[in-house]
Amino acid sequence: MWLARAWNASRVPSSFGALELGTADFGRGVPSGAHHHTHGVGVDALHGPSGKPDVRVQLVAEHADVTLPSGKRIEALTFNGRVPGPELRVREGDLVEVALDNRDVREGVSIHWHGVDLPNAEDGVSGVTQDTVRPGGSYVYRFRASIAGTYWYHSHQHSSEEVERGLYGAFVVEPRAAPRVVDVIALAHTLNGRALLGSSDGEQHRHVPAGVAVRLRLVNSDSTITSFALAGTSFRVVAIDGREKRGGGPLTGVTVPVPAGGRYDLAFRMPPTPVRLALHDEAVGMVLDPGGGAPVPTARFGPSFDPGTYGVAAAPVPAHFDRRFRVDLGRRIGFFGGGLKLARQWTINGKTYPHMPMYMVRAGETVEFDFSNRSGIAHPMHLHGHHMLVFARDGRRVRSWWVDTLEVNPGERYSVAVFAKNPGVWMFHCHNLPHAAHGLVTHVGYDGVTTPFRMGSATGNDPE
Ligand code: C2O
Ligand code: CU
Repeated sequence: MWLARAWNASRVPSSFGALELGTADFGRGVPSGAHHHTHGVGVDALHGPSGKPDVRVQLVAEHADVTLPSGKRIEALTFNGRVPGPELRVREGDLVEVALDNRDVREGVSIHWHGVDLPNAEDGVSGVTQDTVRPGGSYVYRFRASIAGTYWYHSHQHSSEEVERGLYGAFVVEPRAAPRVVDVIALAHTLNGRALLGSSDGEQHRHVPAGVAVRLRLVNSDSTITSFALAGTSFRVVAIDGREKRGGGPLTGVTVPVPAGGRYDLAFRMPPTPVRLALHDEAVGMVLDPGGGAPVPTARFGPSFDPGTYGVAAAPVPAHFDRRFRVDLGRRIGFFGGGLKLARQWTINGKTYPHMPMYMVRAGETVEFDFSNRSGIAHPMHLHGHHMLVFARDGRRVRSWWVDTLEVNPGERYSVAVFAKNPGVWMFHCHNLPHAAHGLVTHVGYDGVTTPFRMGSATGNDPE
């Protein structure tokens, strides 16, 4: 009986809207009787600014074989024939226009601008903010790059497969008054089981003159945390997830763990001897070499960097929250998506997909989310369209920092503040993408905003 009921409850319709699944959760703190409107503006009306773009980019999604420096050949999915896709650099304040063309990716493609808090119709989620782009089709994204920082982009159609196979790249918004720095992106990925840093599966060397300022942008496009170490210099962590982290002192021998989807910017002045960036347990890496023949230092993976005790608070903790939400991550045995096999299911507040709580907010509110994790495994929780101000861990205040992707380890509790000022239907999911594909997905919905797009087997839209 239980089995029959559990199986029935796991069934997903072949076509559904993001806000039709799940159970609306209005949070604590909302006066009873304050109900939400189910009609209003559609997400497809929430576009970026019109006008002449400052930067125009074309990204063509296509199958291509890529040859890695080791000689290994991999059948990949690519943007413009490369893995990762082109490194996109724009200036703060630029109006960016990106034309996505799908040449031959049969399952369809979209582009999500991870960490960029842009208008909802530009968010690139198949079945939520647009229809997937089929072979021969295209979609134009337009948005203002308003905050300097390190971001990345990736397909949000079948993302658990398409990102892994190569449909991703780095996106950097440089400050308007660009300081003179050597600016290096270190983008970690695993392509077909092979560790990559940028486009290389080995150690790269790069000449950097002694004395210059270096900004090293660590990006993790993998589904699990990646640990970096920097040897041969002290450094400061100056930004996390595209937001500045101010006032931090120099660090040495510290491991920098970057969650799936996360970015950490490190800064240092190039010493007269080489500096090595290493990844834990991987042969990939990068040597910055001023010349002169001094030996390259060996990386030491010391204690892990803790943003909660480093530098100064990024912002004050709001004195009042309009709503408070619980996000209790767990697991149980059950059926998934109407399938016949009993397997491990992810839960939020005890509910499995497709009955996850959907978090409903109103524009202008200040909202608290309280995370906990009893699932026995880490979940890097990513909220689209907003940054989250992390202000407490395990019930104790920390020096607040901004994230768009928060690693919630088993047994940990976090409190974050979100300022609801970007109306839309926003995906909120685990960035361990196979977890998301297995149902660890929900949405934050705004009062009066609906989506005309649909997902499910009959629609061709499958964001995860
Ligand atoms: Cu980087 Cu919804 O993802
Ligand atoms: Cu997860």
